Amino acid sequence: MDKIVIGADHGGFELKNEVISHLKEKGYEVTDVGTFSADSCDYPVYARKVTDKIVSKECDKGIIICGTGIGVSMTANKVKGIRAALCHDVFSAEATRLHNDANVLTMGARVVGPGLALMIVDTFLNTEFSNESRHIRRVNMIEDD
Ligand code: RB5
Repeated sequence: MDKIVIGADHGGFELKNEVISHLKEKGYEVTDVGTFSADSCDYPVYARKVTDKIVSKECDKGIIICGTGIGVSMTANKVKGIRAALCHDVFSAEATRLHNDANVLTMGARVVGPGLALMIVDTFLNTEFSNESRHIRRVNMIEDD
């Protein structure tokens, strides 16, 4: 089973806790890098704490939540080796695993409710990369400098 790292700013704090409970019920090992309260904080700090754990290979996949999912997605995608996908629907969560081999899911807690968010998380974590040659080629092109 994948090791999951999760982080959020104050906008995503409550949803983060719901996602953690959900994943622990399913038996996942989850590393929570904060934030640990609803006090205002800076989303890039928590996005980078998540990406650090992926880059170091301590964890396999990451989930980052802020108000919109946009700021954390922008931050995460600056990091080499990170393919962060902002998903607010189940189709995108499946497609980004199949086609982009995304290793980080980002969501906005002010955009989706918890029911949909958990379906998105499940879909993201349960979908394997297609491993089709055209998708491997395109994913490799993302990393080309
Ligand atoms: C915080 O108010 C908000 O800006 C943040 O959660 C996020 O939406 C940024 O992209």
